[in-house]
Amino acid sequence: MGSRIVMRNFLGIPMALVVMFLFLWVSSVTASVSYDHKAIIINGQRRILISGSIHYPRSTPEMWPDLIQKAKDGGLDVIQTYVFWNGHEPSPGNYHFDGRYDLVRFIKLVKQAGLYVHLRIGPYICAESNFGGFPVWLKYVPGISFRTDNEPFKVAMKGFTVKIVNMMKEEGLFEPQGGPIILTQIENEFGPIEYEIGAPGRAYTKWVTEMALGLDSGVPWVMGKQDDAPDPIIDTCNDYYCDWFSPNKEYKPKLWTEAWTGWFTEFGGPVPHRPVEDLAFAVARFIQKGGAFINYYMYHGGTNFGRTAGGSFVTTSYDFDAPIDEYGLLRQPKWGHLKDLHRAIKLCEPALVSADPIVMTLGNYQEAHVFNSKSGACAAFLANFDTKYFAKVAFENGHYNLPPWSISILPDCKNTVFNTARVGAQSTLMKMTPTTGFSWQSYNEETTSYDDTSITMAWLAEQINTTRDASDYLWYITDVKIDPNEQFLKNGQYPVLTVSSLGHVLHVFINDQLSGSLYGSLENPKLTYAENVKLRAGINKISLLSIVVGLPNGGTHFETWNTGVVGPVMLKGLNEGKRELSWQKWSYKIGLKGEALGLHSPSGSSSVEWVEGSFADQTQPLTWYKTSFNTPAGNDPLALDMGSMGKGQIWINGQHIGRYWPAYKANGTCGECSYTGYYQKKKCLSKCGEASQRWYHVPRSWLNPTQNLLVLFEELGGNPTGISLTRRTIESVCADIFEMQPTLMNLHIQAYGKVKPLRPEAHLWCAPGQKISSIKFASFGTPGGVCGSFQEGKCHAHKSYDAFEKNCIGQQSCSLIVAPEVFGGDPCPNVMKKLSVEAVCS
Ligand code: GAL
Repeated sequence: MGSRIVMRNFLGIPMALVVMFLFLWVSSVTASVSYDHKAIIINGQRRILISGSIHYPRSTPEMWPDLIQKAKDGGLDVIQTYVFWNGHEPSPGNYHFDGRYDLVRFIKLVKQAGLYVHLRIGPYICAESNFGGFPVWLKYVPGISFRTDNEPFKVAMKGFTVKIVNMMKEEGLFEPQGGPIILTQIENEFGPIEYEIGAPGRAYTKWVTEMALGLDSGVPWVMGKQDDAPDPIIDTCNDYYCDWFSPNKEYKPKLWTEAWTGWFTEFGGPVPHRPVEDLAFAVARFIQKGGAFINYYMYHGGTNFGRTAGGSFVTTSYDFDAPIDEYGLLRQPKWGHLKDLHRAIKLCEPALVSADPIVMTLGNYQEAHVFNSKSGACAAFLANFDTKYFAKVAFENGHYNLPPWSISILPDCKNTVFNTARVGAQSTLMKMTPTTGFSWQSYNEETTSYDDTSITMAWLAEQINTTRDASDYLWYITDVKIDPNEQFLKNGQYPVLTVSSLGHVLHVFINDQLSGSLYGSLENPKLTYAENVKLRAGINKISLLSIVVGLPNGGTHFETWNTGVVGPVMLKGLNEGKRELSWQKWSYKIGLKGEALGLHSPSGSSSVEWVEGSFADQTQPLTWYKTSFNTPAGNDPLALDMGSMGKGQIWINGQHIGRYWPAYKANGTCGECSYTGYYQKKKCLSKCGEASQRWYHVPRSWLNPTQNLLVLFEELGGNPTGISLTRRTIESVCADIFEMQPTLMNLHIQAYGKVKPLRPEAHLWCAPGQKISSIKFASFGTPGGVCGSFQEGKCHAHKSYDAFEKNCIGQQSCSLIVAPEVFGGDPCPNVMKKLSVEAVCS
């Protein structure tokens, strides 16, 4: 890679000399990764690197090549991934590197595509992964204490790290070996924990550093969010904005390992979105301050299949509002606008890597950052930090109009090729089209009988210690003897049962009848049940089904945090006053009967009698459902619409799709979303009052052409007749482009000696196999609104529709220049105009 560039530098010098010099030079720098204060240096060349996180277990191996290609097409140089210890070593010494966990295959695919890898080994990773990426058995290693100066922890953590590094070496995957891995990460965001725990934390950091460096990977290590990362480890920034960040030593480059493209969704919470104009602005701000590496977290978020979601209450979807959506389709205009940004940054690369920026004030809220290299390259970033107003600034010999909260990029210090707030890429509206409904059979899960219970204790047990996370479900069962003389049996004033739980969900059954359900939230997982319960004279059975929705993924010593019904459990309103039940005999059953029978699998599902039914207004809690279906033709991604259901889990052909919970409606404030001003995760929300997650991705590679077995377990009692299998397709595409928008074409033209800027173009593109069937909206003038709800403004060119109807209908894609003559003349001279258009794809 590097040698091609070197040859250019030596053109004109006698060939023999060049060859000899090249040989010496290449052999001294071949296949090396290092850094200086400006950048990561690969094979002797400083690089501005654009990276994106794609976590291999969050999609299927069949999806990987396409995701990686889309990342490459989007202008990425590097794919970043964590390594998921919890998936790779499910029990001590029992390793799993197949299927979605085939890390080597993933890295080799990235290499094949010609991209680099940033491997974040952790092995603590956070990542909304169950237990922060640690396997649950780690908690039960005698004497262990996580992420501190603790021998058992250090032995285990080193063991896994060494295993991964050796595996990479054996496969020749580090860059000095000719592989794609240029960077590695050890630990993750340990800085704040170290600060909290003090001396043992500092000792641990020192140990971690020596351990990692001792592995001799041949590429630099980074530590994310760790201000005191010891040399030569590079401390890096994770945040929504990182322009404020400087590494702890002058000779380290500025790396942004997590530029958050959105945020994860939690059950009961709305869905976060980060406007691409703000994300592009944040990236340009970082680059203009001398930033050398930016990684989008996430570039493709994907799916928390099975029970892999952690952090508690995190949804099965890990879409993250990323540039590639959960299903592997482009999220537009996010993907396209970032692609344009990357091209603009790459045009500046020669100047960026060879000069430090000079900052010039252009106005109260306006600045220029100029990179002038000795060899004559010049690149400028013109920034307007004002959140409300446009700014007209003078720079060098030109005048530039900057929209609010935006940066213009001038790769030659003259022509604007990109502005972060001017989106030239098309927007895409997606739709979920039902393909098939199902006819269901059901099987009632039992509220456990005593013979099923394997464990008995004279106290309330902590849930994870009991289940070791083998299941989300744990039954707590006890007896209450009610004397026939109890007053409440006569006056009907039933006693109150109080159950305190540390989370996350609780169903209370009295004599096998559901008497109440309640659940916590990510912010407050604790819950207390306090209701009158219908007890009868004699023995009563109290069964508590306590459910965990993912283990914690971070926080100081999260291995010590408790879950489940730890009490007190109390009856109030008896003749004796109150009766404490916490210290009496409790029986426990780990998991559901259906889980033990393997009802989700093709073989286990035939072990019980299923009942046919119409289920139209089903409210029976704790029910298993099964059906069989054929795979819809085509390649569109598929998802189950679970909108009519309550809470539970889904399996197809024995593969665990994940937890579903549409009954938990999103609580929050969804409102206007302006791209200007600092973004934070509560800013641009959607789905308030609706299911936090309604659709559940079904990877096509998990399906047979016919007779797929779909099984669900429903806890609350939803209506399965409302479930359908849907196809995700493009509904319509939009362009929303200003007449005077900067365009990347400017510079190409300049290269041929003509500097006249080109006019911007509107590109509309439906998916392969689709055609533009109609123009839903078109207006050149002053239209308002957004894709899906554009409206005409005061100024509108009457021939706005004609041009599109003529050029686009029946085509898969089309482009039109955004200029008055295309739309029948200027409808309002001296007014800034734009074109908004929406085309339907079918
Ligand atoms: C970061 C962490 C990531 C992920 C992210 C939130 O702080 O390093 O692993 O958890 O937050 O999505």
